[in-house]
Amino acid sequence: MEETARKKKSNIVLALDFPYEKPENRQTLYKKAEKIMDAVHPYICAVKFNHHLTLPLGLFNGVQKLLEKAHEKELPTIMDCKVNDIGSTNQVIAEYYYEAGFDALIANPFVGWDEGLKLVFEAAKKRGKGVILLTYMSHKGASEGYGQTVVDAESGQKTFQYMVFAKKALKWNADGVVVGATYPEKIKEVYAVLGGKIPIYSPGVGVQGGEIESAMKAGATYLIVGRAITLSENPVETAERIRSMAKGVK
Ligand code: XMP
Repeated sequence: MEETARKKKSNIVLALDFPYEKPENRQTLYKKAEKIMDAVHPYICAVKFNHHLTLPLGLFNGVQKLLEKAHEKELPTIMDCKVNDIGSTNQVIAEYYYEAGFDALIANPFVGWDEGLKLVFEAAKKRGKGVILLTYMSHKGASEGYGQTVVDAESGQKTFQYMVFAKKALKWNADGVVVGATYPEKIKEVYAVLGGKIPIYSPGVGVQGGEIESAMKAGATYLIVGRAITLSENPVETAERIRSMAKGVK
């Protein structure tokens, strides 16, 4: 990621998301995804996939072909599957995504380590792949889970759930954390825990109302941007503008 970001002079991760299409029209989705990647690849440093494409196109053949195209353009790929089950199931999920070609996946630390995410980290390590942890999500309801006041099992002190997750990211040696751009004050707090050792991925810029400048000044390393680009009348112009706005901050 760092290398591509440097080369492309961009910290923009494209979320390759499109609105629902009738299953019989799913070929349209493939074409849309291919076209956007072809058009905006010079302005982005990675591509994030979600169920928007894996469900209608399937992982092998459909999405796998798009992963190959992304890799041809030297773009790392992230699967935003928010892994969230028991360890044995998580391991199978992770193995399929990594085998398909994904470089990293997003997982939910709520399930914990033992019989939770341990096997995902092991599967990643075996293949030289990455695991990125949710820490504070970008939507309003995030406060009901990630924002709860909890008692830290290790210190016995009252703290916020997302602060516990930030510490776990360090302990588990995660490759990134996700904190919504809609909450720059939370990015700042998480950044203070991570001390720059783990990059912060920040979704929520544009349609969800997050701002590039405040997110980056608070400590976001990468900005995840979806609909602002994929639904734009001129995706190239939009991607270029977002990249240069982000460049202007740091
Ligand atoms: P938009 O269109 O709002 O898309 O730019 C954002 C993309 O990021 C995903 N998303 C998140 N993923 N943690 C994540 O791991 C989050 O807090 C979060 N918020 C948004 C969203 O599903 C979409 O793909």
